[in-house]
Amino acid sequence: MVNIKAFYHSCSSTISYIVFDQLGGHAIIIDSVLDFSLQSGKIWSEFADNQIAFIKDNQLTVDWILETHAHADHLSAAHYLKSQLGGQTAVSAGITNVQHTFKQIFNISDQELLANGDIFDVLLRNEQVINFGQQSVLVLATPGHTNDSLTYLVEDHAFVGDTLFMPDGGTARCDFPGGDAGTLYDSIKLIHNLAEGTKLWVCHDYQPNGRVLNYTTTVAESKRDNIHIHSKISKAEFIQLRQNRDKDLAVPKLLFPSIQVNIRGGQLPNAEKSEQAFLKIPIDQSLFC
Ligand SMILES: [Fe+2]
Repeated sequence: MVNIKAFYHSCSSTISYIVFDQLGGHAIIIDSVLDFSLQSGKIWSEFADNQIAFIKDNQLTVDWILETHAHADHLSAAHYLKSQLGGQTAVSAGITNVQHTFKQIFNISDQELLANGDIFDVLLRNEQVINFGQQSVLVLATPGHTNDSLTYLVEDHAFVGDTLFMPDGGTARCDFPGGDAGTLYDSIKLIHNLAEGTKLWVCHDYQPNGRVLNYTTTVAESKRDNIHIHSKISKAEFIQLRQNRDKDLAVPKLLFPSIQVNIRGGQLPNAEKSEQAFLKIPIDQSLFC
């Protein structure tokens, strides 16, 4: 039976998972986080270092460092973890579309980054199977929140990224480039068609109404109780609900830093001088006269 250890990053309300076959065995890390201060530009690795300590304490070998998608609310620790622990980084093959889109938005040259996914070790496709130790991971494409969203299924545990939140949290926004509410509905139906007892492990929990942190539910609970997409809500109703919510949502605080780092697999942009790297903010002049 697979073992799961959750790590909660409070600043971004992110939950990252270490999944391993046995003590002293093999592991995967899903959706790790680098610590980052937008105000100061400081970046550090306390969160990822706690995960590294867990890996070492339990004598685990990391085979895979996985992303469920190119996150827009935190910086990925994938590159840092690989430098410390080894393993292969992997993300959806759809990352090339994300890279292409955001290379244009941030005016990133081909010399700095090619939109071919090569900055990751492996690009994953729908229904691909990868292995760690005695365990296997079934990769399911679950686009909608983003074009490159994946769900990782290990035994009866589905790591759904932002494709679903806890039932009282509903669903994630679909208004980023490549996002689509109708596509998200179809992806959630795919997850809801898994066995009723399948455990769902979410990537974020915003603790609605001040409830205690929780990051795991089941297919049965999600189908019955999810406030945005329970079994009585039609696709058309969901699309309307999702689009109405998305038009009033603020831009995520770390959108610009996150995307610039995450399309590079968790690496900073090239240093410009004296080993100093910079992140860009595209200026919207539409309201400026
Ligand atoms: Fe996300």
